[in-house]
Amino acid sequence: PSGICLTVVVLGASGDLAKKKTYPALYALYHRGFLPPNLRVVGYARSALTDEDLRSRLKGFLKGEEDSIDKFLASCSYVRGEYNGSEGYEKLQEILLQREGEMMCPSQIVGRLFYLALPPSVYPQVCTGLRHNCTDLDNAADNPKNWIRIIVEKPFGKDLQSSEQLADSLGALFPEDQLYRIDHYLGKELAQNMTVMRFANTFYNSWWHRDYISNVQITFKENFGTQGRGGYFDQFGIIRDVIQNHLIQLLALVAMEKPVSLHPDDIRDEKTRVLRCIAPATVEDTVLGQYVATGDEPGYLDDPTVPPGSKTPTFAACTLYVRNDRWYGVPFVLKAGKALNERKAEVRIQLKPTPASLYLSEGMRNEFVMRLQPGEAIYMKTVVKKPGLEMDTEMSELDLSYTKRYSGVHIPEAYERLILDAIRGDQQHFVRRDELRAAWAIFTPLLHQIDEGALTPEPYDIGSRGPASADALLARAGFEKGAKY
Ligand code: BG6
Repeated sequence: PSGICLTVVVLGASGDLAKKKTYPALYALYHRGFLPPNLRVVGYARSALTDEDLRSRLKGFLKGEEDSIDKFLASCSYVRGEYNGSEGYEKLQEILLQREGEMMCPSQIVGRLFYLALPPSVYPQVCTGLRHNCTDLDNAADNPKNWIRIIVEKPFGKDLQSSEQLADSLGALFPEDQLYRIDHYLGKELAQNMTVMRFANTFYNSWWHRDYISNVQITFKENFGTQGRGGYFDQFGIIRDVIQNHLIQLLALVAMEKPVSLHPDDIRDEKTRVLRCIAPATVEDTVLGQYVATGDEPGYLDDPTVPPGSKTPTFAACTLYVRNDRWYGVPFVLKAGKALNERKAEVRIQLKPTPASLYLSEGMRNEFVMRLQPGEAIYMKTVVKKPGLEMDTEMSELDLSYTKRYSGVHIPEAYERLILDAIRGDQQHFVRRDELRAAWAIFTPLLHQIDEGALTPEPYDIGSRGPASADALLARAGFEKGAKY
């Protein structure tokens, strides 16, 4: 993309997200040659920093050869400014115009990507400042292909109403096609493979529905607690933190119908449609948990930033139903928890038992598994003949493990890919407003009931599988724990 003069403005440049995710992703793209030569990355924040201060802060977070890191850092500069008012943004605009005016080639496209690495509470004021001060590009470069895009990240509100309010205030400033709402799970390799696999192969569609599928589990597990983020986490809880966004997005990819085309809006139309078919989550079909001190390990409530006696769930399992022809009656169990026995994110589709099976295959259920992390893999648990003289059967896998099949291939970080998509103007892997609304509609009634105390989290040990009631919920959903393999 050499025909572009690109400026990425990282607002909140001195914060955690910027140094841990945004800049490293930008550097990785730069290093792999995905960013144009005419690039500048402008950091913006309230702290009094010089360009050099920012560079030395970032350096430790960028992985690669010193030379290439230094070259990248040379294109990074810093502007100090407030998030409210217009003064800071006027200064930013001057800098942007000056840079764009210096362009050697007037036929270049001018692109400005504003990355809000900031809490959503300041989105409205930042977007107002940007809209009124930083959207006029250099007139001399008046090219209809010039663009301005804004990247924002969750939490988008705490429920349907607050999310709509935020969406209204941003929507009054920027049209939907300039707003890129990140859900970083959509940037994961296997999440992106789901549509390809489902719609580029003949055989999935024949069994991808209620006649063959017994239940679907979408699981997110972490083997560490909230670790210093307790105060932040406590305002949200695991449903708002992970399930309403990351897991529901995976559900949409699993359950959506084939889109009319690969146009980002056709894909998002289908995702929204399937989300709108989901009945709101209920208290009866939900289990909550909170991890407690175990051995020497402090529990959630021992975190000094967590309010004493907090009832915020750090674990939740919740069964949802998609009310359409393909999925009617198939339970989708979304399960997420912190401080569990392992770190894992996967989609597990369990098929119905083989009718009138000729072989001893009791408890051996076919399962189609997509593991997003760790170690990307897609495998199908399959009954096979045990090699040897007997006709014994056993459970095995048809296995596509990325470490074996794609050994040595770089699998990009979610943020890397999503930032590149935003630069390319591809909104496919970003959450559209109506999609977000549909996702909130599923969880808002339940969340309000939980907030009012209708469901209390059950204690669970750190390093355990979570509360035992979650297994009972899975069993009710028809999940049969299969033979070990
Ligand atoms: C974030 C959540 O969105 O996703 C965190 O706020 C969680 O609580 C994180 O730890 C998990 O992301 P990943 O990519 O490490 O699975």
